[in-house]
Amino acid sequence: MLSQTTLFGEEYKIHQFPPTQYLGSKEKLVNWILEVAPKDIKTVFDAFSGSSVVGYYFKDSGYKLYSNDFLKCNYLIAKSLLENKEITLDENDLAILLNENTKADNLIESVFTGVFFERDQAQFLDKFRANVEKLDNEYKKALALAIMNRSLTRKVTLGHFAHLKAIEYSKLSLIHI
Ligand SMILES: C[S@@+](CC[C@H](N)C(=O)[O-])C[C@H]1O[C@@H](n2cnc3c(N)ncnc32)[C@H](O)[C@@H]1O
Repeated sequence: MLSQTTLFGEEYKIHQFPPTQYLGSKEKLVNWILEVAPKDIKTVFDAFSGSSVVGYYFKDSGYKLYSNDFLKCNYLIAKSLLENKEITLDENDLAILLNENTKADNLIESVFTGVFFERDQAQFLDKFRANVEKLDNEYKKALALAIMNRSLTRKVTLGHFAHLKAIEYSKLSLIHI
């Protein structure tokens, strides 16, 4: 079981999970989903896990959980927050992630500058992404990418399903976020 200590008791358990922000998240419904789930089950299959908020809550409540999602970003969230039981990022890992990296490519800079980020922010993200590969553990890598994903979606209006439309609009010079 995945469990964290809480200052505020059971009622606020959900707040231990990093808040989600995208259309379709079931974050506000997890208490209700748990309530209406059959009482005689011990195992849950979250077939479209998305942010993993539903799976996390079931797992934290003692159920055996299987999780599935065909998007790699969502697979990484599940790996880092559900499958991972004890690995965290420490100061040394953060130093690696925040370090310069001369081998970083400029994917985020070239696609998202002027769309969601200023150029220096995009360059930082390209470096962070490249530095993830220097971490020496698969759960640390998944955690770093999940953190990056969660931070990025907070900058994207309507969450991560909106980014392709935003690029299209920005090319028409209709909006600048
Ligand atoms: C509405 S979201 C899931 C919401 C999730 N319960 C939450 O609260 O974050 C639907 C998810 O289904 C995934 N998905 C859609 N079709 C799929 C398929 N054929 N196989 C696996 N995952 C799929 C998407 O990638 C998306 O993350």
